[in-house]
Amino acid sequence: MGTNKKIPFFGLNREVAVHRETYLNIIEKVFSHSKFLQGDEVKQFEENVANLCGRRYGVATNSCTDALYYSLVAAGIEPGDEVLVTDFSFVPSASCIVRLGAKPVFVDIDDHFLMDLDKAALSLNNKTRAIIFVHLFGQMGNPKEIENFARLHDLILIEDAAQVFGASYNGIRAGSTGLLSCLSFDPTKVISAPGSGGMVLTDDENLAQEIARLRYHGKNEKGEFVSLGFNSQMPSLTAAILDYKLGQNEKWLAIRRDIAKYYLENVVGEYILPFEIEGSCHIYHKFVIRSQNRDHLRLFLDDNNIQTMVHYPIPLHKQPCFKCYKYKDADYTKSVGVSKEVLSLPIHPFLDQYEVEYIVQKVNCFTSE
Ligand SMILES: Cc1ncc(COP(=O)(O)O)c(C=O)c1O
Repeated sequence: MGTNKKIPFFGLNREVAVHRETYLNIIEKVFSHSKFLQGDEVKQFEENVANLCGRRYGVATNSCTDALYYSLVAAGIEPGDEVLVTDFSFVPSASCIVRLGAKPVFVDIDDHFLMDLDKAALSLNNKTRAIIFVHLFGQMGNPKEIENFARLHDLILIEDAAQVFGASYNGIRAGSTGLLSCLSFDPTKVISAPGSGGMVLTDDENLAQEIARLRYHGKNEKGEFVSLGFNSQMPSLTAAILDYKLGQNEKWLAIRRDIAKYYLENVVGEYILPFEIEGSCHIYHKFVIRSQNRDHLRLFLDDNNIQTMVHYPIPLHKQPCFKCYKYKDADYTKSVGVSKEVLSLPIHPFLDQYEVEYIVQKVNCFTSE
């Protein structure tokens, strides 16, 4: 099979085409009451997400970037404290630490692109206060092991669950572990906002209230402005659309998993394919393969009208904004190594079977060239 049209990495255009009428009806409904901020839709969405994730409280924010920062502030992390975080993620997993005046302590990864807890143990000192555990590409780390690690070393545990909404590990749902969990609904995520969106989840009422104050000018439930805060509200329209998408999520995740299964069963050659840890339900937010010839493979797929992406070409310790900490490549052999090999193939619920077969055919034929 050939294709003249590019197979898109993301499926949002197609999603909007299918659900256009519903989205327009939702817009109409919100416009008819015009309470664009702090509408009932936000509370409803917070409750639904918290219930799905098994948490008592959800506080919607304008992004996961803000959610992470507010989580650190609410957890009492202070300038000078050290916070463990993976070396292999998107920048906001760590920039939240620096924004607070604390120090990010980058930790190398394991074979699943997740923080290696044995290596994390070697980075502890008396300033280490917290760990931000980032679950990457749709697969969670073992929540029990992560919790035990945090407990053993007396660390505050914050879950960066931006990429794992809907995933689980031995029945433990993403977003349910640690003191606070942070979600993202940005347009690249499995449930995506028409814009930006995030949420903090917690079981602690005081923390939930503090985060609600931080997201809106320090305003308490009596309407007083008791501390300095920010303006990081989730618009009512965003919450309404996200809430509708929540109802589609199971179906969409099943399609992602089917596509991943097809890739796993049919891609052959000298690639390292993602590996589903026993007991884990991977949602394949990204389908990331590894190739020693990544850059050529990417060009070859592009020439054949297949759009791919690289997550992530530069480990965090090498990003210019973190260079001042002078971390050395020699301590990050895994993240430095995989950053040269990773390639994300298209995976979303709006790919059709012909496209998936075509992608596999091209990936396999590059191998044999
Ligand atoms: C692992 C991870 N953490 C945090 C974020 C930040 O999310 P947001 O774009 O909602 O601020 C992202 C977003 O891409 C992410 O992938």
